[in-house]
Amino acid sequence: KQLSVIGVPMDLGQMRRGVDMGPSAIRYAGMVERLEQLKYNIEDLGDIEIPRPKQNTDEKEDNLRNLNEIAEGSRRLAKAVDEVVENKRFPLVLGGDHSIAMGTLAGVAKHYENLGVIWYDAHGDLNTADSSPSGNIHGMPLAVSLGIGHEKLTSIHDYEPKIKPENIVIIGARSLDEGERVLIEEKGIKVYTMHEVDRMGMTQVMEETVDYLKDRTDGVHLSLDLDGLDPNEAPGVGTPVMGGLSYRESHLAMEMLHQSGMITSAEFVEVNPILDEKNKTASVAVGLMGSLFGESLK
Ligand code: ARG
Ligand code: MN
Ligand code: MN
Ligand code: MN
Repeated sequence: KQLSVIGVPMDLGQMRRGVDMGPSAIRYAGMVERLEQLKYNIEDLGDIEIPRPKQNTDEKEDNLRNLNEIAEGSRRLAKAVDEVVENKRFPLVLGGDHSIAMGTLAGVAKHYENLGVIWYDAHGDLNTADSSPSGNIHGMPLAVSLGIGHEKLTSIHDYEPKIKPENIVIIGARSLDEGERVLIEEKGIKVYTMHEVDRMGMTQVMEETVDYLKDRTDGVHLSLDLDGLDPNEAPGVGTPVMGGLSYRESHLAMEMLHQSGMITSAEFVEVNPILDEKNKTASVAVGLMGSLFGESLK
């Protein structure tokens, strides 16, 4: 299989500096070497250039901090990802904060009738400017991809919506804002919160997820926010939430996704080396990639 890696040094979707170094941290954790051992042909396309905001980064336009710069960065990312898919290669995108998912999905979804999305995250990222408690765009990309939000974001790559609510599965949720809960209910989005993971176990969660997506989708994108994991195991994230998915549950999930053969694109986001402990979180990300792409002990 042919993989193309794209780094996105984006930190404008939230307030903690350092997440723009996520792509480097992941590369230095040995990603390419790890995946090459699995006999992948890998090309690293380097990093997308992200515009710097004019001056005062605290300035919020309509409760959408750094709107224009994020929209422009997302357009560039969408173009790059589109081209990778066009060339029949698997896009592996490295964040950067989760706002980059708007660009990734814009580039990928064009190529599918019914793109499935697995959103592995403590959060729903289903806010709009109206519902967002923070004005941080990294809390909005899933809503934007559904066509809900500011026009400058929903129109990225010149089509909308990118995805359909019935093709989404959220796994690991434990911090949902009121507006996000309303949207989940209204749109019938499938969510496995930590409650369900604890009750059913990750095996059943993943079996159901694969079953659910396999008939209705023609490709599945994995958007993995490292804060889906417990902060004890992935401390280098900007918005940690206690009680998360374990290292073992996460590897099991990745292994089951590999076995399903259904994943057609992926991104690993929110790795912030400034907040991390000796690059632990980037190493966890690389390990999870190993499982997703077929590492196993047998
Ligand atoms: N729900 C909160 C907000 O809208 C937190 C979002 C965190 N998102 C993330 N990608 N880590 O600000
Ligand atoms: Mn195309
Ligand atoms: Mn999150
Ligand atoms: Mn997220």
